[in-house]
Amino acid sequence: MSVEKTLCDGILHVTILNPPVNALSREERAGILEAMAAAEAPGVQAVIIQGANDTFIAGADIREFGKEPEPPHLPEVIDAIERCSRPVIAAIGGQALGGGLEIALGCHYRIAAPGARLGLPEVTLGIVPGAGGTQRLPRLIDPIAAAAMVSSGKPVTAAKALASGLVDRIAQEGDLIAEAVQFALEVAQADLAPRRLSGRNVAEPAAQAEAFEHLAVSTRRQARGAQAPIAALELVKLAVTTPFAEGAARERETFLRLRAGNEAKALRHIFFAERAAAKPPADIGEASARAVSCIGVVGAGTMGTGIAMSFADGGFPVTIVETTTEALAKGMERISQGYQSSIEKGRISQSVAAERIALVHGTTDYDDLSECDLIVEAAFEAMDVKRDIFHRLDAVARRGAILATNTSYLDLDEIAAFTSRPGDVVGMHYFSPANVMRLLEIVRGRETAPDVIVTALRVAKRTAKVPVVAGVCNGFIGNRMLKAYVRETGLLLLEGATPEQVDTALTRFGMAMGPFAVADLSGIDIGYKARKAMAPGSYEPMGTIVYDRLAEAGHLGRKTGNGFYRYEDGKAAGINPEVPSIIAAARREAGVAQREIDDAEIIDRCMFALANEGGFILEEGIAAASGDIDVVYVNGYGFPRHRGGPMFHAEQYGLEAVRDRIAQFAAGPFGKWWRLSPFIGGNGAQTALAM
Ligand code: CAA
Repeated sequence: MSVEKTLCDGILHVTILNPPVNALSREERAGILEAMAAAEAPGVQAVIIQGANDTFIAGADIREFGKEPEPPHLPEVIDAIERCSRPVIAAIGGQALGGGLEIALGCHYRIAAPGARLGLPEVTLGIVPGAGGTQRLPRLIDPIAAAAMVSSGKPVTAAKALASGLVDRIAQEGDLIAEAVQFALEVAQADLAPRRLSGRNVAEPAAQAEAFEHLAVSTRRQARGAQAPIAALELVKLAVTTPFAEGAARERETFLRLRAGNEAKALRHIFFAERAAAKPPADIGEASARAVSCIGVVGAGTMGTGIAMSFADGGFPVTIVETTTEALAKGMERISQGYQSSIEKGRISQSVAAERIALVHGTTDYDDLSECDLIVEAAFEAMDVKRDIFHRLDAVARRGAILATNTSYLDLDEIAAFTSRPGDVVGMHYFSPANVMRLLEIVRGRETAPDVIVTALRVAKRTAKVPVVAGVCNGFIGNRMLKAYVRETGLLLLEGATPEQVDTALTRFGMAMGPFAVADLSGIDIGYKARKAMAPGSYEPMGTIVYDRLAEAGHLGRKTGNGFYRYEDGKAAGINPEVPSIIAAARREAGVAQREIDDAEIIDRCMFALANEGGFILEEGIAAASGDIDVVYVNGYGFPRHRGGPMFHAEQYGLEAVRDRIAQFAAGPFGKWWRLSPFIGGNGAQTALAM
């Protein structure tokens, strides 16, 4: 049974029971509708809508979105709740999201548990609320706050919900249902009229225009080309001037249109791909996680301190080890500054920051790592450095401790072999800044034990990371694909595009940053040094010649005030004037003719370079599914989430059309790099042109 009705002392309890998150499918909608008819029976004084499994309702069942919607539809169910002649109280524990919050808005009163979260996250799925959310919310709380909630999709805490008027009460004593009953009896006994939001007007309509405009500007910027956030904002704006029925009809129309579109399809794909990626690989069997209660980090540089902060954020005590007291002091200072800046940005309170800082203990003595259950090495990226560290860790770590490396390129199997326990060694590849970026590549070596993988996945979940398990190869999933992407960006310069043109085309496509702006930010010397260690022939030297010339001239990016761009007061102030002549000289050296390049070519070359390399990664079993690759790119490389990731994007484009396009690129001066991967439909051996 998915909806239970129990009449107890005049209160009808309507309980949604669809584990794990009480998502609403057809059965729950029908069950609620039926319960609302039962609520009109004599003897019912009030109704409480509540969820089983310590949560309310996490919204519509997303798995139904790809199918034709079946009646009863949610707006009809919510209208029935709102029309009920008895007071209806939503008792919100856990999550009230999407359709779940819309149900709560259809109720006449709302009480929440202190830990509840309430939100309309539809835009994160490429849609807008479809059952009155955009019209009822601004009739309950400040319309601008409503617009911000709907267009960002971000949930609010119970405390914020109380402050804004979204809920009437917070259950103080810890028993939500008992307090909801108390609330229901008070309302029934006072004979208060049901509060029906659809019958209200929106507060202060005239004063909003400027605030809406302001919000629209930031929404548009953050949306990076996605449509749903803007559409959601427009619908809330409409509520200000339009009667409920008209606004609700427009909302439903927008919801149905967006739900059928590519953006929603891409975002659903990523939603499920992220959850699939977080599960242990299929061949791992029933291994259970090892206990992890304290964690060590080796290296207090940028990565090490970011990783330590991410563990402290997840509530783990962390011991961070450095070689010298000076380096350690710098690292500890970086951690306090990091938390200070979070306080200043209003992300955390002073007391929370203090608790987290107190979790981090610094030392220069490796012996202090002896009790750690997991130790993550985040030191300099060189094999002899790793050899030394892993020898030392092998000597001090307790048996059963997991030894992880944050290497982004090096051979994990070689690192594991420095220890007497290669089964306990795993890669945990974080992205900078490690306490902010959500991606975590968990690299599985030849001998990594199954329970080590399961433990790393568990730790990822506890520290709010999005994990993807990858096999061993140079650069694993993300950086290996990046190599192909960077190659094409560099070749585009030789063939005639400018850095600004490439960056603009790719940010218009939705990338968080253009590749040359990224190179300037991370430092042009990083890739330059990495290439020095690469085997000749394993990459196209002309693809990075402009990068190399800049590095050799000391133009290393933001840190030197010039790279591809020139920086003034930390802000880009146009192209570095040296760049056009460096490109022209490189072009002569490469013997390439300059031509007009359009934006479509820039986007397709860069995107299909990613997807094609992703195809080899899949074929070699480095990634288990194309969705895993998409998850990596969306969470670690600024790929626009609403396009679903590079593999999904290629599939949407049509793999046959991608093949045709690649055949055009293969006819270019560097065509030999376009060997077609099986994912795109090749056999990996021939270029598209030769097929
Ligand atoms: N529909 C279907 N399945 C859902 C779901 C949903 N709305 N929400 C979560 N699930 C599933 C997940 O896929 C996962 O399934 P598997 O175990 O098979 O992988 C399981 O529930 C647990 O989910 P999480 O791993 O994400 O668990 P969590 O505890 O970390 O997070 C959560 C719980 C915060 C509810 C999170 O799952 C979430 O944010 N869910 C999506 C909520 C959402 O976007 N709702 C709006 C839907 S749109 C809508 O509601 C519009 C409308 O009515 C018309």
